[in-house]
Amino acid sequence: MPHGKLGSDTASADPADRIRELRDLIRHHDLRYYVLDSPEISDTEYDKLFRQLEEIEASHPDLVTPDSPTQRVGGKPLDKFGQITHAIPMLSLSNVFDEHELREFDERVRKGLPDIDLVSYTVEPKIDGVAVGLVYENGLLGSASTRGDGYTGEDVSLNIRTIKAIPLRLEQEGLLGSVSLLDVRGEIYMTRADFDELNRFRDEEGLASFANPRNAAAGSLRQLDPRETARRPLKFFAHGLGRVEGASADTHWEVLQALRALGLPVALDQCARCRGIEEVLSHYALLHQRRESLPYEIDGAVVKVDSLAAQVRLGVKTRSPRWAAAFKFEPLQARTRILHIEVGVGRTGTLTPVAVMEPVAVGGVTVSRATLHNQDEIDRKDIRERDTVVIQRAGDVIPEVVRVIEELRPADSRPYLLPDMCPVCGSHAVRPEGQAARRCVNASCPARLKETIRHFASRGAMDIEGLGTKLVEQMVDKDLVDNPADLYTLDLDTLARLERMAKKSASNLIEALEQSKRPPVDRFLFSLGIPLVGEHVAGLLMGAFHDIQTLAGRTFDDLVKIHGVGPEVAQSVVDFFGEPRNMDMVRRLLAAGVSPIPLERSAPPAESPMSGKTVVFTGTISMSRADAKKLVESAGGKVTGSVSRSTDYVVAGEDPGSKFDKARQLGVTVLSEDEFRVLVGI
Ligand code: IVH
Repeated sequence: MPHGKLGSDTASADPADRIRELRDLIRHHDLRYYVLDSPEISDTEYDKLFRQLEEIEASHPDLVTPDSPTQRVGGKPLDKFGQITHAIPMLSLSNVFDEHELREFDERVRKGLPDIDLVSYTVEPKIDGVAVGLVYENGLLGSASTRGDGYTGEDVSLNIRTIKAIPLRLEQEGLLGSVSLLDVRGEIYMTRADFDELNRFRDEEGLASFANPRNAAAGSLRQLDPRETARRPLKFFAHGLGRVEGASADTHWEVLQALRALGLPVALDQCARCRGIEEVLSHYALLHQRRESLPYEIDGAVVKVDSLAAQVRLGVKTRSPRWAAAFKFEPLQARTRILHIEVGVGRTGTLTPVAVMEPVAVGGVTVSRATLHNQDEIDRKDIRERDTVVIQRAGDVIPEVVRVIEELRPADSRPYLLPDMCPVCGSHAVRPEGQAARRCVNASCPARLKETIRHFASRGAMDIEGLGTKLVEQMVDKDLVDNPADLYTLDLDTLARLERMAKKSASNLIEALEQSKRPPVDRFLFSLGIPLVGEHVAGLLMGAFHDIQTLAGRTFDDLVKIHGVGPEVAQSVVDFFGEPRNMDMVRRLLAAGVSPIPLERSAPPAESPMSGKTVVFTGTISMSRADAKKLVESAGGKVTGSVSRSTDYVVAGEDPGSKFDKARQLGVTVLSEDEFRVLVGI
């Protein structure tokens, strides 16, 4: 194999010889760059060789062959892709999600191979890309297709040819000898850096950006015009074989080495041959640890039985082989960049910082916003605008920033501070001593009002159909509503004059407002937007007091007696109803015809084994004394501090004191915490 720079003194004079030399050189440098990851010449030098080849071929068109590096981009744009049937189906992998499931996979494998003492596996990174099959005939790239349904895929041959990491001609010195037919299976992907650059470029051009490298790779591969695919920075890793003629191997590990020797890129640096499942687990841990620092995205490890004979013995299920498994990483983290930090103002005036990010897929959902909670949280993680961050999504909640990747922080970045003015009304935003939240001091800040009304109308609250965010914004901006009670004073003409409203939608809204007037009382309480009173607490409160007026008249001490109501909630309720404007709003709502339906009372605790009983606690139990007291009381009993003959139960926790001894002396029933829980029904 020739290599190094080609001085004019070593160049052949004969055009056919010179063409062959140049092609060999270019192929050699492609291999160094794309497969071995160690280029020997600069891009400029490479381009020079390429141009020389183009020039000579241009003056000798008869010498042009399809495997020449100049022949990657060709053909006309297609109307649609043709179909290719895979000679051997392109299977999928069954997933395991934790160590336990992986061990179960290993057990199934060992059961299928009872004569093998220690099963060897290859462990590879699971490349987050697009699966393709490349067919080489007598060493030349023929067709290429996507996986499709596993049996038939799309013919993307022209596009695949444009990917420089994929050789048009195999290095025949490969370990497999001279292969007459080779169906290579692998993954088309895009590096994170190339993805970022592509998106930056698309942004400048006013084109929609891709959500993640995988989507970018898939979209780029499925271009009908190969010239477009040629412009996209696609890469390839081979990870297996379909049909093969003229070669054989004993192990998958050997196959991977052979693929590399044939000139195909293989992620060998990240692969390991493991003896037994313990070694598999440690390589998985290593890949997991390296995940963030790899230049491309991986979403797990692929574990394959190494012996090809053993693979055949284990066989395949319908869609996936029994000899392989994908051990997926928890899919809920992703890396992206914070574009800027936006500050919203909530119902209670709290300034809430939200990171607006480059869109990224996290566990199958594209996200572009993450909550930053408050200044303390920002300080703790040192989150700044333009930082590259790892974000995480748990369930359906808005994602959070897990951490900042500090090495990627711009040099001129500054710590982020929440503004001391409300971004909506310009009033002071203050952070009281000892509190995490910074709040707008203006009680009638339009942002707060909008949130209050939006919450009032929302589904779990008054459920006013058709009263969406845009409409609420208009109503507040046009001074039509000053608090939720004003909604019920709006008339048809006023509503019909709002943007995007017509007579019909206005009358629908009036109808929805009418319909909303009979809410269950706990939903009505929830709709008032009292800080800390969510749906659950609203249910507890209204379970204890039938109507809002009764609740409004209760003291702090009355409220904390309710099981599940802590001092902060109690104080918040007392504060809310202590504010004349809030009471006025409640009165106006009721006057407008809102008539909440009382909750059905739960059965009186007469049947409870606690009713009428006197209980004394001693020692440590797993709940606070206040909660325990509430439990007894809501079950109809009472709690006292000392043990006497009239005490019914002594509940003894850990390290009980003298009350325990006294109970024994007097023959009072002593309960463990568990027994107590049974008696109060929790
Ligand atoms: S082997 C019969 N190895 O994951 C085994 N697949 O969920 C076929 N993938 O469709 C696949 N990296 O596109 C294998 N190192 C790797 C892989 C890999 C990514 C993809 C592949 C497959 C999908 C299965």
